[in-house]
Amino acid sequence: MTLIDGKLTAETIKAEIAATVSEMVAAEKRAPHLVAILVGHDGGSETYVANKVKACERCGFRSTLIRYEDDVDQATLLDTIARLNDDDEVDGFIVQLPLPRHIDEQAIIEAIDPRKDVDGFHPVNVGRMSIGLPCFKSATPAGIMELLKRYDVPTSGKRCVVIGRSNIVGKPVATLMMQKSNPGNATVTVVHSASENLKEICREADIIIAALGKPGFVTADMVKDGAAVIDVGTTRVPDASRKSGFRLSGDVDFENVAPKCSFITPVPGGVGPMTICMLMCNTLLAATHAIYK
Ligand code: GUN
Repeated sequence: MTLIDGKLTAETIKAEIAATVSEMVAAEKRAPHLVAILVGHDGGSETYVANKVKACERCGFRSTLIRYEDDVDQATLLDTIARLNDDDEVDGFIVQLPLPRHIDEQAIIEAIDPRKDVDGFHPVNVGRMSIGLPCFKSATPAGIMELLKRYDVPTSGKRCVVIGRSNIVGKPVATLMMQKSNPGNATVTVVHSASENLKEICREADIIIAALGKPGFVTADMVKDGAAVIDVGTTRVPDASRKSGFRLSGDVDFENVAPKCSFITPVPGGVGPMTICMLMCNTLLAATHAIYK
């Protein structure tokens, strides 16, 4: 069994990005600039955004954090987005999700210029990805593909079962896994809360990508011997023994599943660190106009 080390892989990639940025700066080019908009004080979002800012520092990027309180109105957010769309000093920006209920999240996403949508959430980027055109790919699916690539996990012609159909992970990773590329070229099945025979379908899989957000959902009896298992779950579960009061729990019963696997990602330290790293990759692609000329 090979443990896929997302933390180490993410560090390697960030070092590669930092080296590229050093060269850009030495050639008198501006460092890439990422802006994050954070609304409210949700603990998870605060942590994610703080980690994104830290990753920018590591990569030699400029970063700007714009904060609003929970009661910000949609028009204010749309004005800010319009300003960032027009700002030549900003290469890419993200609006941290989820947003308060009075804000129309889809309207916010669609207001972002696709050329600066480094989250890859705009329908133009999602659509381009689904037909295999250059685009910003959303970070978690891109991070999963990067891990499969760097660990040489066989995917071509293999049966891949994706558990979960979210717009952020399940649907896009299914799309990338079926694409005629390497990694990819897999026979993909997506299962979800309404699926019948979910366990039986998982047992057929050479690759399982678990992205449903239910701690320990994937048990050993659902996994074929020699399967590769990618765990996207990051649910906070209360843990009094931790200073923070919680620990992160994956969707896979790691202890019992790992011995059956050819490859497996741990939680934490698997897919999670790759997500922010791929946002950095997208920001570099935006700054160098590598996707949209
Ligand atoms: N909330 C959870 N994941 C993400 C992400 O990748 N991007 C943004 N903007 N919000 C999120």
